[in-house]
Amino acid sequence: MTDHVTIVEVGPRDGLQNEPYTIPTEVKVELIERLAACGLGVVEATSFVAAPAIPQLADAEDVFVRIDRKPGVRYPVLVPNLKGYERARAVGAEEIAVFTAASEAFNQKNINCSIAESLERFAPVLERARNDQVRVRGYVSTVLGCPYQGEVPVAEVVRVAEALHEAGCAEISLGDTIGVGTPSKARAMLEAVAESIPMERLAVHFHDTYGQALANIHACLEAGVRVVDSSVAGLGGCPYARGATGNVATEDVVFMLEGMGLTTGVDLDSLARTGDWIAGELGRPRSRAGQAILKRN
Ligand code: HMG
Ligand code: MG
Repeated sequence: MTDHVTIVEVGPRDGLQNEPYTIPTEVKVELIERLAACGLGVVEATSFVAAPAIPQLADAEDVFVRIDRKPGVRYPVLVPNLKGYERARAVGAEEIAVFTAASEAFNQKNINCSIAESLERFAPVLERARNDQVRVRGYVSTVLGCPYQGEVPVAEVVRVAEALHEAGCAEISLGDTIGVGTPSKARAMLEAVAESIPMERLAVHFHDTYGQALANIHACLEAGVRVVDSSVAGLGGCPYARGATGNVATEDVVFMLEGMGLTTGVDLDSLARTGDWIAGELGRPRSRAGQAILKRN
């Protein structure tokens, strides 16, 4: 098992999508560039979704064209359908992510269709991506619970993850959208999915609503996962998941991974400064590790 963990930094997308006040485009661009400069190899930049659904990211084109892309860094973007794919490609996006859920109720609120319809919607997107040699990540939301339907059977998570994998997604990110998962459940869910999809193709995505995210990540690392999604300063939340708070903070994850002897390529001091800066811009709290690192320096 490799000692390297790939962090997928989702702050500029998941982190900002739910902020109530309009964030200037230049702040978004600066955030993305600063994150890449910290050594993060994957920075999810924005979403090419319908503006009324996510007004905060309505400047996706503007953001994407303004990024001074660092060689070797990947900048995936979310697309919900072919229209989103075309918008993303028109400004030069080279990697995309499609997103669905293991819960019907959540999917209806989030993308206005059933799980089966979402998979049909992705088919032409995946075909275009294959022809264009564009890497596609597939997200499964509500893998450990749904804000509308409550319990989500693991068998449903497995079924949706398999469908995305068979459709050609290079990586499947398993999202605990409302952060209700606990370590044993998180690990069991991951291991059930890994029975049919190689562990190297799986990522975990924990929101920290109940303070369980780091413990869940630890349990999933023990099961072999090596791709972890997180958000600088713990920014984030999905507007279609009532009460969901931010993602686990990247600073806290990197600090834990370093302590476990795992490598990430991320410079923790620069990351703490970036977290401090964006938290100040948005009037949000700093992450636990971020604050401690700033104080010790
Ligand atoms: P719909 O209303 O069913 O779509 O929305 P439609 O195809 O009927 O189109 C309606 C209007 O939207 C039309 O405009 C389309 O052109 C336009 P009109 O003709 O009325 O003027 N439209 C678009 N415009 C720009 N870009 C597009 C696009 N598509 C349609 N791509 C739709 C369906 C999926 C489009 C909408 O519900 C949507 O955009 N939803 C996005 C929701 C979202 O982004 N949620 C947050 C991300 S998921 C998440 O955070 C979870 C995750 O972090 C993992 C986890 O934590 O679990 C990934
Ligand atoms: Mg999320």
